[in-house]
Amino acid sequence: MIEVSGLTKVYGSITAVRDLSFRVEKGEIIGFLGPNGAGKSTTMRILTGFTPATSGVAKVAGYHIEDHPIEVKRRVGYMPENVPAYGEMLVSAFLRYVAAVKGVPRGDVGREVGRAMERCGLGDMANRVVRNLSKGYRQRLGLAQALIGNPPVLILDEPTAGLDPKQIIDIRQLIKSLAPEHTVLLSTHILPEVTMVCERVIIINRGQIAAQDTMHNLTGGDSESLEVEALGVSDTITPRLKAIGDVTKVETLGGGRYRVVSPRGKDVRGAIVQALSGSECSLVGIQRKGRTLEDVFVEAVAADRGGVE
Ligand SMILES: Nc1ncnc2c1ncn2[C@@H]1O[C@H](COP(=O)(O)OP(=O)(O)O)[C@@H](O)[C@H]1O
Ligand SMILES: [Mg+2]
Repeated sequence: MIEVSGLTKVYGSITAVRDLSFRVEKGEIIGFLGPNGAGKSTTMRILTGFTPATSGVAKVAGYHIEDHPIEVKRRVGYMPENVPAYGEMLVSAFLRYVAAVKGVPRGDVGREVGRAMERCGLGDMANRVVRNLSKGYRQRLGLAQALIGNPPVLILDEPTAGLDPKQIIDIRQLIKSLAPEHTVLLSTHILPEVTMVCERVIIINRGQIAAQDTMHNLTGGDSESLEVEALGVSDTITPRLKAIGDVTKVETLGGGRYRVVSPRGKDVRGAIVQALSGSECSLVGIQRKGRTLEDVFVEAVAADRGGVE
């Protein structure tokens, strides 16, 4: 649904996006992550036709963004970082205006606006002035305007930024409900959110891809690890751990700590207790060590701490 190849965007002396290539398949919700200034918003603005790329190509819903900008705009709902809305307008009037701009047939506008407000929990706000909306409702309005016209592709730039925890849960549920009819590219800073909503993740850093994979593979794939703490000589402990049937790898972490890797789903804790129940060593503790998305993120962007900004 989204195909990006060699995308580059240069602003004067800054290369915001450098030779970026990735694909998003139909019905996927992809987490688009990266530190501030990584180039997420720039990529999203290019994909939605708001900024031209310096070089490279991108196809959205089968259309080249440069050759068929109108076709692309018709098929993409875009929620930009700062939701633009005409402050003096009523919520319902603003959404009707968006529907008209998007070319929704006149006879369908009422139904379409009603559906978007309903879906985003804006029903009670229809006759409020946009300017007076709280941050939470403003974000909902941003999402509602993206949904108008029922576009197959949604590009959401930090839709939960600035919301309180309850509002974040609401918007997250809503985004989750968009798949599989919609394909969603979602940027956010909230990593647990990605863990809950996205199946696949693209991490960019300094305008380049730093990591991309399924959540499953990024967070350890088919193996899991334990951190074992034991007193005694490492030369005694390591071979004992390695000798356990399902243990695939043992790393010495120092300070009497060891990382023990085994296939996901195989519980080797009992075997570890037995293996270390000798007189030369004593087991002090075993802890599950899941690799979180946060670990992956920090590693992926570690090559360049500090970022661009
Ligand atoms: N219109 C612009 N003019 C000049 N530089 C820009 C412009 N927009 C973004 N940048 C720069 O491009 C880089 C990427 O920005 P952006 O895409 O907003 O990152 P992100 O959304 O990941 O925080 C930053 O260094 C930013 O300062
Ligand atoms: Mg941004």
